[in-house]
Amino acid sequence: MRDAMARADVGDDVFGEDPTVNALEDKAAEILGMEAGVFVPSGTQSNLIGIMAHCQRGDEYLVGQLAHTYKWEGGGAAVLGSIQPQPVEMRSDGTMDLELLASYVKTQPSLNHFAHSKLLALENTHDGQALPSDYVSEAQALARDRGLSLHLDGARLFNAAVDQCVAPSRIAAGYDTVSVCLSKGLGAPVGSVLVGRADLIQEARRWRKMVGGGMRQAGIIAAAGIYALDHHVDRLADDHRRAVELADRLDRIERVAVVNRATNMVFVEVDLDPDQADGFNDVLGSVGVVVRGGPRYRLVIHLDIDDAGIATAAEAFAQAVASL
Ligand SMILES: Cc1ncc(COP(=O)(O)O)c(C=O)c1O
Repeated sequence: MRDAMARADVGDDVFGEDPTVNALEDKAAEILGMEAGVFVPSGTQSNLIGIMAHCQRGDEYLVGQLAHTYKWEGGGAAVLGSIQPQPVEMRSDGTMDLELLASYVKTQPSLNHFAHSKLLALENTHDGQALPSDYVSEAQALARDRGLSLHLDGARLFNAAVDQCVAPSRIAAGYDTVSVCLSKGLGAPVGSVLVGRADLIQEARRWRKMVGGGMRQAGIIAAAGIYALDHHVDRLADDHRRAVELADRLDRIERVAVVNRATNMVFVEVDLDPDQADGFNDVLGSVGVVVRGGPRYRLVIHLDIDDAGIATAAEAFAQAVASL
């Protein structure tokens, strides 16, 4: 990947003249079955400009209250786009009750009291869990029926595709815009791509410039994204296999309970008092397993973690529990 970055042809992407960025945008759009793409530095910016491309000031987007775009992105759509989020109770598996969702939709133009519902944003995977395809189809049908457009935060879309043994374009189907991250599981150092309908991507490109995402010789980082798409998608199955292995090993340790495991994520709860967490984390850190928080931990497997790393992590937890 570093080699590909060093050899990348570059140009000024603000003027659309970086051949490597253009190649990445075309490639991502093609893989995901979309008309166009725009390269951005982060998933947060990708979601933001996607939502801003769909909605005007005074519109709203419906979103699960645990979704990244709502909970973890600083309220960007509201702060920078004047777009009101309508959070909808979300189950821990990433789905929402669709009847409840429907009850939140406000599209009667005669009612000046309301922000206008314009967009439904889903997230796949959510906490590692791939959304069931039937649920996605029903949510999409509901959105279309109510005149809403559709955005997918597919930061880890490729994990969902590998998990469900379908083409990535299948997971992206039915949405108007889809954001995918090249960092995280795909292993690029930086970058996301927003793909979708050409008119929306053109609009998103203008917002990208406004929020400071127009970069110059960005081909150097886009080359890493191309490399990741070429070499690091199929191997996500290794991460999923290792997550199973890690969950199995952790589950056998006294005082450690595996709360959930899906695709490349394992959630564990350690039976310790919150004030013991720092000491517990220090023991893990002393053997090279750096964690934050506790007593609940989210463990994420990626391409820099091999089988030996899984064994190290499991042994570190055993050692930390023994130290309590
Ligand atoms: C589901 C989801 N969407 C979006 C993002 C944002 O990506 P970034 O950290 O590149 O801004 C993340 C980051 O963890 C995420 O988990």
